[in-house]
Amino acid sequence: MLNKNIPIPLYYQLKERLTQTICEGELEPGALMPSERELSDRYEISRMTVRQALGEMVKEGLLVREQGKGTFVAEPKIAQPLLRLTSFSEDMRSRGMKPESRILAIYVEEAAPNVATALNLGDNRSVLVLERIRLADSKPMAYEVSHLPLARFPDLEQEDLHSVSLYTLLEEKHGLQIKFARQVIEVGLSDRSNSEELGIALKSPVLLIERVTFDADERPFEFVSSVYRGDRYKLQVELHR
Ligand code: GLP
Repeated sequence: MLNKNIPIPLYYQLKERLTQTICEGELEPGALMPSERELSDRYEISRMTVRQALGEMVKEGLLVREQGKGTFVAEPKIAQPLLRLTSFSEDMRSRGMKPESRILAIYVEEAAPNVATALNLGDNRSVLVLERIRLADSKPMAYEVSHLPLARFPDLEQEDLHSVSLYTLLEEKHGLQIKFARQVIEVGLSDRSNSEELGIALKSPVLLIERVTFDADERPFEFVSSVYRGDRYKLQVELHR
């Protein structure tokens, strides 16, 4: 029961109680939360109070509301360290998750000016474009569009990239030495081209990540724009002084 005789608001007590059940694993990620009515009956409080507690938990990212389905316990966010150059596959495997890709498209095109500049392309501006949904344990995490200079990787289009890491393929099959990347991260909203594929509502918060990656000769070999789910990712960095 909640304590009505202390000066701590009831909605806050309920929120603390529910948060605790989630943290202790009693309610697992993906679990459907009891309805407002059930909670108000169980704790003998008004539905308004329940609504306020659940609303705050949604705002804090502990719960997610799905239109017409109910309120669910959110999947925990992945803390992505920013200091090492890793691939999506490595990131997911290091967390005990299974990485996969759903290939949306592979095609060759003439690089747009920003891509041509980033990849330092000369006259030959053909790039191989790879559009992928990146999945972890079958759940969509990110939408990525990679551009690679076609002249350097003419056979890549033929490869089966569904279950294979692009970096592993480039390193092991093409003998590429991946050295460093420059990355820019911005906050954005999901749009029509990616919301559905990512399984999120239109205009959900996302991280927009642009990466240019360089080989051992410090030549850029990929330009990637990624859309990472804001409800599944947080960025982590160690700061020294
Ligand atoms: C991350 C980066 C991408 C990179 C990808 C390679 O997702 N944001 O820029 O292309 O890793 O991942 P993988 O080797 O798993 O295909």
